[in-house]
Amino acid sequence: MRRGSSRTTQRLLLQNVDLGLEPQSLNERRRCNKRGMHEGWPRTVAVIGAGTMGLGVAECFAAAGMEVRITDATPQMTREAKERLVERARGHAEAGLLSAEAAKRAAEVETADDAQAASRGAELVFEAAPEDLDLKHELLAACSGAAPPDAVIVSNTSSLPMDELVEAVEGPERFLGMHWFNPPEWTPGVEVIPAAGTDAEVVGKVVRFLREIGKRPAVVGSGPGFVANRIQMALFLEALRCVEEGLASAQEVDEVVRSCFGFRLPFFGPFQIADMAGLDVYASVLRTLKDGLGERFETPGVLRDLVEEGRTGTKSGAGFLEYSDEERERLLIERDRRYAALNELLEWLPPVEAGRDEGEEA
Ligand SMILES: NC(=O)c1ccc[n+]([C@@H]2O[C@H](COP(=O)([O-])OP(=O)(O)OC[C@H]3O[C@@H](n4cnc5c(N)ncnc54)[C@H](O)[C@@H]3O)[C@@H](O)[C@H]2O)c1
Repeated sequence: MRRGSSRTTQRLLLQNVDLGLEPQSLNERRRCNKRGMHEGWPRTVAVIGAGTMGLGVAECFAAAGMEVRITDATPQMTREAKERLVERARGHAEAGLLSAEAAKRAAEVETADDAQAASRGAELVFEAAPEDLDLKHELLAACSGAAPPDAVIVSNTSSLPMDELVEAVEGPERFLGMHWFNPPEWTPGVEVIPAAGTDAEVVGKVVRFLREIGKRPAVVGSGPGFVANRIQMALFLEALRCVEEGLASAQEVDEVVRSCFGFRLPFFGPFQIADMAGLDVYASVLRTLKDGLGERFETPGVLRDLVEEGRTGTKSGAGFLEYSDEERERLLIERDRRYAALNELLEWLPPVEAGRDEGEEA
């Protein structure tokens, strides 16, 4: 840890008080890792597929105090996965990221020989097997046949359409997508993706549960890539094109993304950022991009309409959202407070410099 870091942390904590958050709320946000606080539904969870995502989610559920049972492709692979889970939780505890009690709970995760055995008696079944429709169909049929009729069945699929996955589920009204992000223990966002026939009460129950364990769920539609991967892949494609066209190296693109517009993203989404920048400015930039790079930068009608109506963002009092003078002032000062705090955090925990551009010396 760098010198002065505890002072920096203290300042960050104090700024949280300024933001109206109790100092301990930083810990509250880590609550699924700190203690067994989750007491409502579900008490028992089956995790089907104990790989990168399944193990991380299992650790998170166990740390939050749920009874968790994992299974993988074979009993031997399940036993090995359990060993990895125990190691992983121990590593997190040693790094000070997880309490000793939570790590102990992760070590108590049970194993089951197959998806059916894991799902018997489970109130929530979390499927995290490889991204293969036939395999997921097979597993979802087995789980939903073995789980209690009121158990909720979810898939962590990154891209498969819900209305295709649900075809294999017994009791389709209790099925939906619950898309976590890697590493699941620490990434707060989870996409909740109902299928056409999912019961709205089931959606509400899942959203409440995720919030209770400290996650930030968003309910989204089942279009290709849902929302997160669609946006993330669009960003990745343009980043790749910049490198391919020789505009910048991979390292330079990473620097630009994380330090320019990416710097803002922990606090604001693209619509809030566009409102603060000025929608007329965005429309002009898009015209130049379209002239140089083609149709994929065509300005959507909704943006053209807003600019024509004079709704150019915070500066005019309305853009995608509406702002009174008072709200605009508050937004801008709270924005600046967060950016200043983030700069302090970056001083304490700078970006991880790992990897080199091709040909660069180690
Ligand atoms: N890796 C990511 O960043 C990420 C992020 C979000 C969502 N996802 C999605 O989560 C799911 C799992 O991805 P992952 O990255 O954890 O994959 P992974 O390959 O690390 O894990 C999948 C696990 O499923 C096991 N498995 C295979 N056949 C099985 C069977 N018949 N029964 C039980 N388990 C079986 C595998 O042995 C493996 O341990 C996929 O749908 C993927 O698209 C992945």
